[in-house]
Amino acid sequence: MTRILIFTGKGGVGKTSAAAAHARLSAREGKRTLLYSSDMAHNLSDLFEQKIGREETNIAENLYALEADPDYMMEHDYADMMRAVVNMLSSSGTDADVLDNGLKFPGMDELFSLLKILDLYESQKYERIIIDCAPTGETLALLKFPELLCWYMEKFFPVGKIAMRVLSPVSKKLFKVELPDKSAMTDIERLYVRLIELQELLKDRTIVSVRIVTMPEKMVVEETKRNYMYLNLYGYHVDGVYINRMLPLSLHNPFFTQWMEIQKKYREELALIFHGIPQLEIPWYERDLCGMDSLDRICDEVLSGQEVFQVRVHQAGEVYEKTDTGYTMRLFIPCLKKEELDLYQSGTDIILKAGNFKRNIALPNILRDYEITGAKINDQNLEISFAKKER
Ligand SMILES: Nc1ncnc2c1ncn2[C@@H]1O[C@H](COP(=O)(O)OP(=O)(O)OP(=O)(O)O)[C@@H](O)[C@H]1O
Ligand SMILES: [Mg+2]
Repeated sequence: MTRILIFTGKGGVGKTSAAAAHARLSAREGKRTLLYSSDMAHNLSDLFEQKIGREETNIAENLYALEADPDYMMEHDYADMMRAVVNMLSSSGTDADVLDNGLKFPGMDELFSLLKILDLYESQKYERIIIDCAPTGETLALLKFPELLCWYMEKFFPVGKIAMRVLSPVSKKLFKVELPDKSAMTDIERLYVRLIELQELLKDRTIVSVRIVTMPEKMVVEETKRNYMYLNLYGYHVDGVYINRMLPLSLHNPFFTQWMEIQKKYREELALIFHGIPQLEIPWYERDLCGMDSLDRICDEVLSGQEVFQVRVHQAGEVYEKTDTGYTMRLFIPCLKKEELDLYQSGTDIILKAGNFKRNIALPNILRDYEITGAKINDQNLEISFAKKER
């Protein structure tokens, strides 16, 4: 089965290096592997010291690389999706001329670079797809986008009938869903279905793992915590952490004494935050990482023998449980502080707000007549209780 690993983390921590080293190791294991850069500020070409472009490029045995180019993809792969987006925006009052003139709405580049992942996955050309992302903020925006756009489409467009059939998780799991004939769907409906499929793929815990790259120092650890929380809030499966730029303990240079204490302190903090999740340390090398040899070094010294392509831990997504008084929904959200959380019900959605992020969780049909009666944080889990509405 195809595996997809998504590398995320603060700017400059070593995401591209870690992602590329995994791609290299995978190819060395004889698996056909694609390294896909969804970061618009591409640097795979620099890393591999060869030109890598908007088409899949073979760079070593079993190893292919691709840098997302949304403009190119919009023209070549997604002309009909573009039409849907333009229709949608013009019916919501956005001037279609603006769009025709090449201006884009926020999130559009991200949308197409994500849809490309779905296409690459479905093409079955690769056994492993390794994704190198932009720094945290942009990546979170990217990962919450499909859900956001679906929500928007459900509210403003007549995609409801399809939504009922595609969305209901129970019917999806138990019965093979019969989608309307694709040619009979409008562009908007097709886009909507693709977005649902994309979300299902990205949240499929047997296929997609999110890996966080970090460094043992204050600012990076702070951002790493928030990133970890938000990724869980959106239901992504984080099952591995890489702590980069670890100084060797054998350094006997007074200049580094304090740095080594700082690293020790934050290394311990990371161990607590990611308790139960595999953590690998990447040494601070004497020079920057460039070319296949430097990747091989990470493969040999850090990754090999660690089963890094496996699903490393099994953390459930949202879990619903029957209780004496109704139901409980449990959601693993580490590092969440109660005072940061805002939670309410709106129609058939639960709205969860933490910091600048907001997620709408559609309630399963069975809870349509229920309302929230309380919420608490219990051992890194948010537990929301529901009771039947009084008539
Ligand atoms: N362990 C290390 N030892 C030495 N140099 C490193 C190490 N990790 C990363 N570097 C160097 O640090 C720079 C940044 O690394 P990299 O590009 O992998 O980070 P990134 O997280 O992808 O950055 P961006 O957020 O800009 O995409 C590169 O020049 C890389 O070669
Ligand atoms: Mg990078």
